[in-house]
Amino acid sequence: MSAKMLNITMNGLPMEVYEGSSILEAARSIGVDIPTLCYDEGLSGYGACRLCIVEIGSADRSKVVSSCTYPCEEGLEIRTHSKRVLDTRKMILELLICSTPGSKTIQDLAAAHGVITARFKPEHEDCILCGLCVRMCREQMMATAIDFAGRGPNRRITTPFDESSAVCRHCGGCMYICPVCSSRCMGPDADTTLCSSCLNLSPSCVEVYDHQQCWMPPDCGTCIRPEGEYLPATGRIIKVETEA
Ligand code: SF4
Ligand code: SF4
Ligand code: FES
Repeated sequence: MSAKMLNITMNGLPMEVYEGSSILEAARSIGVDIPTLCYDEGLSGYGACRLCIVEIGSADRSKVVSSCTYPCEEGLEIRTHSKRVLDTRKMILELLICSTPGSKTIQDLAAAHGVITARFKPEHEDCILCGLCVRMCREQMMATAIDFAGRGPNRRITTPFDESSAVCRHCGGCMYICPVCSSRCMGPDADTTLCSSCLNLSPSCVEVYDHQQCWMPPDCGTCIRPEGEYLPATGRIIKVETEA
């Protein structure tokens, strides 16, 4: 039995998608770029960061939804880059950059979306509660060693009873996928919320990335490259200590 197809309109363009596709999947299938932060192709959608918002419905009865979790429906009208969407994305990025100014991932997203002012006080949070680490642990590592705990301002990621987990595989998957801890920017001034937007070009602020700045367990070797090469995920230069 062939899969059912749905007719939708993406930015005025009629298209067909498989039933069950999210708006984000439909957009990416035709090359429409929607930014994401808490989404990863290999994991279930969660809808935490709201960066992937789009506008749906006719102009007079529209609403804004998270494209990574909203399924396509027959006849759905979608606008991925309307003024309302772009303004809201910029506001979300401004809030995110103020909560975690040290995240290179968020710095790059802010720069790419023209966020040039930040009106809120920098908080330097360790976690934006995106849930990527929890889903990575549960869905890819089949470990379920960590999860959300607490409510409101006490909401956090932790192990059961905050104790060392017996089921953790020490794979590093949770740290690898974390947009806050895996790509920390050690910029020239930790109190500067918005940097000068190196945006994946050669970073002006960090010349050597070594174990002093690494969040992973010592010497895991994940980032080792020949001296002078860039680590693609961060754009940073890797220092390799060769034996004499
Ligand atoms: S290191 Fe442990 S907690 Fe992190 S993803 Fe792997 S199994 Fe889960
Ligand atoms: S620790 Fe990192 S990946 Fe996990 S919820 Fe917090 S920001 Fe997201
Ligand atoms: S990427 Fe969709 S809500 Fe975060």
